[in-house]
Amino acid sequence: MTRTAKIFAGLVLFVVLVLTGIMFAAYGRANAPEQPIKFSHKVHAGDFGIACEYCHSYARRSTVAGVPSVARCMGCHKVTALDKPEVKKLADYWNRKEPIPWVKVFDQPDFVYFSHQPHIAKGIACQSCHGAVEQMEKVREAVVVNMARCVNCHMEKKASIDCWTCHK
Ligand code: HEC
Ligand code: HEC
Ligand code: HEC
Ligand code: HEC
Ligand code: HEC
Repeated sequence: MTRTAKIFAGLVLFVVLVLTGIMFAAYGRANAPEQPIKFSHKVHAGDFGIACEYCHSYARRSTVAGVPSVARCMGCHKVTALDKPEVKKLADYWNRKEPIPWVKVFDQPDFVYFSHQPHIAKGIACQSCHGAVEQMEKVREAVVVNMARCVNCHMEKKASIDCWTCHK
């Protein structure tokens, strides 16, 4: 390679690295918030195979999927992994009778009407809107559920694409 070619190649590599760095920083900030307890879906839903709906039990019958109560966690953690520091934090919330202030990851603007119920009733997998959560140590917005994605699937599955279906 000539010297200019080397410099040019170096420059291109530099720009690519900086751009991916910026993308990752923005992505991480917007879509994978730190949580008050390091709760791992990989451990619970992946390795131990606990069903999504065991913890997100409203999904089948309501607009929200819901996040489990501290009591639901303690059903196992009164006896499981008591020595782990993050489980001690969990026990502290329980002893103080405080809910855990989990930070939302998937959030639609208020002018959007969404309900889990009709989707679960039609057998649509959680993963088609949330990604492979069971492989994540920390939940991130791996799938961005924007209007295009909602409408594309509605057209494909012959569900309503009337504006008032999603904007009430
Ligand atoms: C059905 C049983 C069950 C429920 C319910 C449950 N866990 Fe766990 N949890 C486990 C098991 C099993 C492990 C793995 C223990 C090990 O690695 O020794 C674990 C591990 C953990 C760990 C430690 C991970 C690590 O390696 O440091 C944390 C923190 C944790 N759970 C938090 C929670 C929270 C918060 C909830 C409620 C939202 C919850 N768990 C609900 C069974 C459960
Ligand atoms: C042991 C209980 C437990 C199981 C099992 C579980 N979850 Fe969760 N889930 C939680 C908790 C606690 C949170 C809130 C903390 C967090 O975001 O990590 C959460 C958060 C989420 C979120 C992000 C919610 C938001 O704020 O937008 C999604 C999506 C999700 N879970 C999907 C799933 C799917 C899909 C499965 C099955 C593959 C599953 N969960 C299994 C406890 C559980
Ligand atoms: C058709 C797409 C779709 C499917 C399928 C879906 N979700 Fe969601 N989920 C969403 C959207 C969109 C939001 C954000 C809703 C909002 O902000 O109003 C959300 C929010 C959540 C939340 C945050 C708390 C809440 O209830 O708002 C959890 C937890 C969750 N989903 C878990 C699940 C689980 C578990 C399944 C499977 C049983 C599932 N979701 C299936 C689209 C979906
Ligand atoms: C992966 C496919 C898929 C995605 C993505 C999806 N939907 Fe749906 N949606 C469906 C299906 C299938 C139905 C059920 C239609 C039926 O019951 O006939 C449905 C039904 C609905 C209903 C109830 C409609 C009625 O007539 O009662 C609403 C509201 C809705 N979806 C809103 C949304 C919104 C908002 C989003 C995006 C945030 C979204 N959906 C994303 C497939 C999807
Ligand atoms: C299947 C669900 C669905 C249908 C049908 C739908 N929307 Fe949306 N719409 C959404 C969601 C989800 C968002 C928020 C996410 C986004 O901005 O993409 C949104 C956002 C919007 C926005 C704000 C865009 C922005 O950039 O902030 C407008 C305006 C809008 N929709 C108009 C319409 C009109 C007009 C129709 C009918 C032709 C329609 N929508 C049909 C789901 C839907």
